Amino acid sequence: MYISDIKDNQLIIKPQKKFTDGKRLLRFPLVKHNISIEQLANIYNKLKLCKDVIVDGKIVLVGYEYFNLIDYFQEKVRMGCRRYNQKYTPLEKFEYHKNQFKKPYTYKNVMDQIFKFKLCSELDPHIVITIINSREILGQKIEIKRFLDMSIGRGSQLMACMMKDIEYVGTDPCEAAFPHTQMIEKYCRYMGSTSAVQLFKCGFETNWPWDGRKFDVMFSSPPYFDVEIYEDNETQSIAKNKTVDEWLDNFLFVCMNKIITMIHSGGLIMMNIDNPTNGHYDYVGPLIKKKFEGADYIGSIFIRKGFNIHTWKVN
Ligand SMILES: C[S@@+](CC[C@H](N)C(=O)[O-])C[C@H]1O[C@@H](n2cnc3c(N)ncnc32)[C@H](O)[C@@H]1O
Repeated sequence: MYISDIKDNQLIIKPQKKFTDGKRLLRFPLVKHNISIEQLANIYNKLKLCKDVIVDGKIVLVGYEYFNLIDYFQEKVRMGCRRYNQKYTPLEKFEYHKNQFKKPYTYKNVMDQIFKFKLCSELDPHIVITIINSREILGQKIEIKRFLDMSIGRGSQLMACMMKDIEYVGTDPCEAAFPHTQMIEKYCRYMGSTSAVQLFKCGFETNWPWDGRKFDVMFSSPPYFDVEIYEDNETQSIAKNKTVDEWLDNFLFVCMNKIITMIHSGGLIMMNIDNPTNGHYDYVGPLIKKKFEGADYIGSIFIRKGFNIHTWKVN
């Protein structure tokens, strides 16, 4: 059985769908059809207790295993995202190539082959929990009680904040992801979270209703210019900005200036953002060189090769 909805804090469940009839691949092997509701709850409880730490600007894993927890809710959305150097999304590629998959058609073997398709990124919630648990980040003392997320994305920040009962406010215009993000909120509620949560389906740069109360941190995976195409929608940050320079000036720098006004003095702005590894674009260089009034760049936290969290302290 898998969770198809949650109403009045009750799980609405449906039978899991088979991804193979034994001889043929029928459909994409979504995680939600491959783990039970009990396994999901165990994974949730395990992740909540994550003990990873930041040492010398690096995330150090303490007994961590990769769990696919966000994928349970968001996998179809992520697999429907296209990387900038790919013609098709992973879901489309699967449909076109499923006759070429090598046997045996076990979940793991099929997934290993799917992982060779270029997938869009997904921040794991354990990184966010590690940030929330930290009392000092890049030399700055911090206690996170109110959390701002300019791009909700797949909802890793939302889930981690709800696990830790932290207040969370997030924006993201992605139509396809929003119902799944709401499911994450409902699930965390079902698992006992008491977090105050506000989700806004809109661009961060737009005039959404902020109540004026300041945040301790803004930690987000913002869009990476056109490196990942989430959906063809004019609300996406790239729709109106066709070059990196336009996108920086009209979107990312505008968001940075807005965020600075929303964070307490001594609070942090943490951007999980990197250039594509083939050197095609450089938006991180101009971002970290730019002098923002009211915030200073204090360095980056290394997650793994090609994944860094660039950080500013608000004055
Ligand atoms: C890099 S992705 C997030 C994926 C990420 N790796 C994660 O783990 O969640 C960036 C997100 O920015 C969102 N986005 C696009 N335009 C935006 C805008 N104007 N304001 C805020 N978010 C926007 C996209 O819809 C997408 O969900």
